[in-house]
Amino acid sequence: MNARIGIVTVSDRASRGVYEDRSGPAILACLTEILSCAWEPVSRLIPDEQPLIELNLQELCDGEGCCLVVTTGGTGPARRDVTPEATEAVCDKMMPGFGELMRQVSLKSVPTAILSRQTAGIRGKTLIINLPGKPAAIRECLLAVFPAVPYCIDLIEGPYLTTHEAVVKAFRPKTS
Ligand code: MTE
Repeated sequence: MNARIGIVTVSDRASRGVYEDRSGPAILACLTEILSCAWEPVSRLIPDEQPLIELNLQELCDGEGCCLVVTTGGTGPARRDVTPEATEAVCDKMMPGFGELMRQVSLKSVPTAILSRQTAGIRGKTLIINLPGKPAAIRECLLAVFPAVPYCIDLIEGPYLTTHEAVVKAFRPKTS
């Protein structure tokens, strides 16, 4: 069976059609560039409502069987930004290293990178990773953390993900 990967755009305006969602398609393009194994996307476009974000994350993890869910948007300080809260609410454990690394890398491009509260966590056999909403942030953040993603998914008993090494070299520690 193909690995399934959830792509969740969290945006009031994109979900109302005020503007086109460019971040979800950017995640799809970046994952296509990175992954060499068979996989299929499961995409969602939803407003910044915490209960709705939680529901969609739960469905993608528990119902759709995604091994990885990548969200974009809603990580900032604005009143409606609640994606990290929704992520934390549905996760069994948090993986703070992802947010730390993505902010560190993003800071090289924009000083406002520190305004993103993006994080990651594990729900059952799924890794959930938050990305900021800006399309420009997608590739930068995903490429930074992806070397550790396949091994993380091994550890939570997900499918064996492989990558195009010229794009991302997956790191799997040798067992002693
Ligand atoms: N990270 C990268 N790599 N590139 C960016 O342009 N924008 C920042 C930050 N992280 C940005 C970034 C800004 S301006 C904000 S407000 C926060 O992400 C939160 O964005 P979000 O609420 O759309 O998730």
